[in-house]
Amino acid sequence: MSMLEWQDSWSVGNSSLDDDHKRLVSIIQKVGGRRTLSKDLGGVISELEDYAKYHFAREEELMEEADIPGLEEHKESHRAFVEWLEKVRLTFKSQQARRLLTDQVDGYLQDWLKNHILTTDMGYKGLI
Ligand code: FEO
Repeated sequence: MSMLEWQDSWSVGNSSLDDDHKRLVSIIQKVGGRRTLSKDLGGVISELEDYAKYHFAREEELMEEADIPGLEEHKESHRAFVEWLEKVRLTFKSQQARRLLTDQVDGYLQDWLKNHILTTDMGYKGLI
């Protein structure tokens, strides 16, 4: 799978949130770059989980302040992603599971972030 790369067209019109998204891309790039060091993936997933929670809270607060429609659905998307990350982090404690799951996790993360920014997050572009 090709490496996830930030695109200017992904801008949600808020430089601070764009910076958060760039950081998320950069953490996810570490997953793709660590196939030979699968023992480190649990740490990368933890880092992603922590930063995603931080970003989601900031984004939801800004959306709430600006009274953006669809906030509850957006929050649910965030919650589901964090729950998925928690499951993956726990699964990665098993060495055998790490080998099997690394490629799937890399692909899922790249697809999720790109699709979330380009569809769900774009819903508030120009409003916050
Ligand atoms: Fe930028 Fe909805 O996460």
